[in-house]
Parts: sequence; C-alpha cells; structure tokens
Amino acid sequence: MAAPRQPELLLTKEEIGREVNRLAQEISRDYRGKHPLLLGILKGSFVFMADLIRLLEIPVAVDFVSLSSYGSARVTSGEVKVVQGLRSPVKGRDILVIEDIVDTGLTVGYFLDYLKKRKPSSLKLCALFDKPSRRKIPIPIDYRGFTIPNRFVVGYGLDYNERFRHLPDLYVMED
Ligand code: IMP
Repeated sequence: MAAPRQPELLLTKEEIGREVNRLAQEISRDYRGKHPLLLGILKGSFVFMADLIRLLEIPVAVDFVSLSSYGSARVTSGEVKVVQGLRSPVKGRDILVIEDIVDTGLTVGYFLDYLKKRKPSSLKLCALFDKPSRRKIPIPIDYRGFTIPNRFVVGYGLDYNERFRHLPDLYVMED
C-alpha cells in the first residue's frame, strides 16, 4: 500500500473557530433555561466537543459513546454494532448529539434510533461537517456547521488510520 501524500488545507482553525462559536450561540439561545446532555460520538467529536462547550452560555452535562462500525479506514460499511459507554440516563432529558462529520449518515442514524427508544424529552443533532453527497439515509441535522465536498478530510479530531487528528486545521487527503 502506498503511503498517503501530504494533505491539502480546506479550512483554517480560524474559520472553524468562527463556525463553532456561531453554533454555540445558536445552541445557547435555543436551550436557554435548560440543562441538556451533550452526547459526543467518539473518537472524532472530542475536539469539537471541547471547543463547543467552552463557548456555550448555558450549563450542560457531557458524555461520550463509542460506536463500533465496520469498514475500511475511509468507508463505513453501514454495520453499526455496539453502543458502548452510555452511562448517563436519557429518559426525560434534552439530548443533543455532537458529531464531527455526517457522511453516509448510517452511524449517527443508528445512534439516533437507539436514543429515541430510550424516550428523551427532546433529541437533536449538531454536526460540524456535513458531506451530503454521500448520504444513504435522511438525517435531520439541527445545527450544521460546514457543508463540504465529497472528499476525505482529516484534522480537528478527524483521522486517517489514527493519523492527523491533532491538526488544528482541516485538510483534504489526496486520493
Ligand atoms: P457515516 O456513518 O458514513 O456517516 O460516517 C460517520 C463516521 O465516519 C464519522 O463519525 C467519522 O468518524 C467517519 N468519517 C466519515 N467521513 C470522514 C472523513 O472525511 N474523514 C474522517 N472520518 C470520516
């Protein structure tokens, strides 16, 4: 297998920061007087979650879940198997799912169904990056950051085979 080439810059950390701030303001306004539980999907969402919660003007609870989906480094197979690590009760709470990127939608679609069965009082989705051209199932994104082209991106928490997560900007991997 050939080594991946150098990624090309798509969004700077300043552009991402401005968008995270805009999303934080919208969420703060909509949840005023409430105390939602923010549920991040690991691993990709941890950087976004960390930046987002520090810009919110409302109190929140935070938890993370790990979904095991099978497939190669770049393609989700659609088989989302197990939800691990959801320790917080969901019933009767305002739940906001925090996702790094919605691609086919299969991962977050599975998780939203899983949560719905547990009867939250409200359930919404916030995704920083959206690749709508690859969607396989409709996903309602209540808080959407950037709509990006159908390219594989890395940085700001997103990886390629566990590389590049630490980069503060977002890059496109060349094919
Ligand atoms: P989906 O189930 O196809 O929507 O894929 C969701 C998951 O695949 C995301 O949470 C990411 O972990 C991963 N993913 C999808 N597209 C990308 C990408 O461009 N870069 C890095 N990870 C991605």
